[in-house]
Amino acid sequence: MPRHVAIIMDGNGRWAKKRYLPRAMGHRRGVEAVREIVRAAGDMGLEALTLYAFSSENWKRPADEVGDLMGLLKHFIIADIDEFAANGVRLKVIGRYRELAPDIVALIDDAIARTSGNSRTTLAVALNYGAQDELLRATASLAGQIADGTLAADSLTPDHVSAQLDTADMPPLDLLIRTSGEQRLSNFLLWQCAYAELWFTDTLWPDFTRQHLASALADYAARERRFGGR
Ligand code: IPE
Ligand code: IPE
Ligand code: MG
Repeated sequence: MPRHVAIIMDGNGRWAKKRYLPRAMGHRRGVEAVREIVRAAGDMGLEALTLYAFSSENWKRPADEVGDLMGLLKHFIIADIDEFAANGVRLKVIGRYRELAPDIVALIDDAIARTSGNSRTTLAVALNYGAQDELLRATASLAGQIADGTLAADSLTPDHVSAQLDTADMPPLDLLIRTSGEQRLSNFLLWQCAYAELWFTDTLWPDFTRQHLASALADYAARERRFGGR
């Protein structure tokens, strides 16, 4: 059983296109899939689930699509925070979320505060997240410690870097899932993926159900992890 699963939730646009619907409908159905998977993660006993919701590169999309995504995000937090609070879900956000609109930042901060005492499942939502950006922030922080003499450059270990990442307080990443048939990381959790198992499916994110998650966990259970050993 993995402790920490991350998902690149991809394919909302193609789901909508197949049905001659606007992309926004794909994103809306994508939020339904998020709900089901967060519930399933709790039911299945996952300690941590990290969901890629908006990348630092997704700002390149047309303004109306970015607006639709931000609107859905806002609605999602308002609609789901009570259920998280009641079900032991601790909400966490990774990425530069403070650069989002002030009303969304306030909702996020409130949701984080309201669920901070929960410990059943940590739900980390990646918002305005890019792994290269995360590593640059970690690097700058470590460079500062080296400059002020609190850290010696020749004593740096991987743990020093891990401790500076947005995921520092989460278990190591065990399994990365990507939907929609694409097989790339798209700037997600580059450091954390070092020894994660990878699982790809052609299923588009709005069609992803708890049965798909269960299949991924079953495949994970059958894999042998070696971490470079024998
Ligand atoms: C994933 O679906 C959601 C986000 C990236 C926000 P896409 O919008 O990337 O859907 P496709 O890849 O165009 O099908
Ligand atoms: C990755 O999906 C980002 C999220 C799922 C939020 P993209 O659809 O943005 O990735 P690329 O552009 O196909 O690599
Ligand atoms: Mg995509």
